[in-house]
Amino acid sequence: MSPVRLLERKRDGHRLEPSDLQRFFTGYLSGDVEDYQMSAFLMAVVLQGLSAEETDVLVDVMVASGATLDLSDIAGAKVDKHSTGGVGDKVSLVLAPLAAELGVVVPMMSGRGLGHTTGTLDKLEAIPGFRVDLDLERFRRVLGEVGCAMTGQTREIAPLDRRLYALRDVTGTVASIPLIAASIMSKKLAEGLDALVLDVKMGAGAFLPDAEQARTLAETMVRIGEARGLPTVAVLTAMDRPLGRAVGNGLETAEAIRCLRGDGPDDLEALVVELAAEMAVAPGSGVVDEQERTRARGALHSGGALERFRRMVEAQGGDPRVLDEPNLLHTAVRSGEVLSPRSGTVHGVGPRVLGEAVVSLGGGRARVEDAIDPGVGFEVIVEPGQRVEEGELLGIVHAQDEAAVEVGRRALLTSVLIGDGDPPEALPLIVDRIAAL
Ligand code: URA
Repeated sequence: MSPVRLLERKRDGHRLEPSDLQRFFTGYLSGDVEDYQMSAFLMAVVLQGLSAEETDVLVDVMVASGATLDLSDIAGAKVDKHSTGGVGDKVSLVLAPLAAELGVVVPMMSGRGLGHTTGTLDKLEAIPGFRVDLDLERFRRVLGEVGCAMTGQTREIAPLDRRLYALRDVTGTVASIPLIAASIMSKKLAEGLDALVLDVKMGAGAFLPDAEQARTLAETMVRIGEARGLPTVAVLTAMDRPLGRAVGNGLETAEAIRCLRGDGPDDLEALVVELAAEMAVAPGSGVVDEQERTRARGALHSGGALERFRRMVEAQGGDPRVLDEPNLLHTAVRSGEVLSPRSGTVHGVGPRVLGEAVVSLGGGRARVEDAIDPGVGFEVIVEPGQRVEEGELLGIVHAQDEAAVEVGRRALLTSVLIGDGDPPEALPLIVDRIAAL
């Protein structure tokens, strides 16, 4: 079937034959299908969807378009975690060394900031010298020696996803459940894992804020993984408020280090403990019990996970002194306190406006080649449900000059909703868990 005919069929909502679809994707890889035809296809998918059968074709061509890692020479179960992205989500930095402390081997391949969210690689690069572009040989070496390694997606993995993602980013076609699911799962399937834990965000700060859509995304990814022999579990978690108190790359890295020292904040610690326990039981498809959580909490508070993080930082060229002085990680020139304009109850802390403000302060990218300013961002002092008095500290803005501090101050005042009476009900931190159906 010609690319034009296939586009017309998808446009009109007809089923596509797997063989035709496969030819369309491989034609794109070989240059027979043009970028503008693929862009039209992606937009048609956003509007018409993809069936499970069609999604499977996309996943399989994406995986086959690149290399699949073989980590079988490294002893132990290899388990990664992937988050669909949120504001203040610094979980990976704490989780990788913590899960390694629990005996899991963690080959973590992460991404950069996307839209209003900061990315794990950008947070790691706030550590002077830290390399996130390990070649496969060094990645394996760090993994074998330390039990965890964190790097960017190597060029060998799922190149079709990389090309499609670049098109989606500039054609308004990111927000599609099957496209997001195929994109994430193709990369994870190529990583040579024994199990995968997904943190699927739900609420205003997530890419798919709608609760039902987040659930469908989780179910789609679990189905894709399980159908290919990769035990996959998804935890649905709250993103109707930022995670932790720090938003912005260096501030988040510093908060992750404090969490590795056992200094909270409570929501970050609780989520990391839950996900670490999931990673520890995932290869056997077990269900997490309190004993696993206690073991994870113990590894955090004993300093074991922090020491493992130190070894990883050293092995990846980073300056380990920041572990003893996390404040070195955020060095914006100006900071400004934001005070409450009135007394009342905090009805919500909107995550998206803070994430977008971090980007506009220089902590995110407008174009792929933009450099990140790791120093800028927010410390949010209050949380939903808390009583505040007029003049009380709501948070602190870190920025490069006074004008930028003012931009941040306005964003924080928009984000923190103060009202009278009881606040609306917030999502529980862990909303649900989705395993094989
Ligand atoms: N992360 C990905 O890797 N792909 C998507 O499509 C969205 C988030």
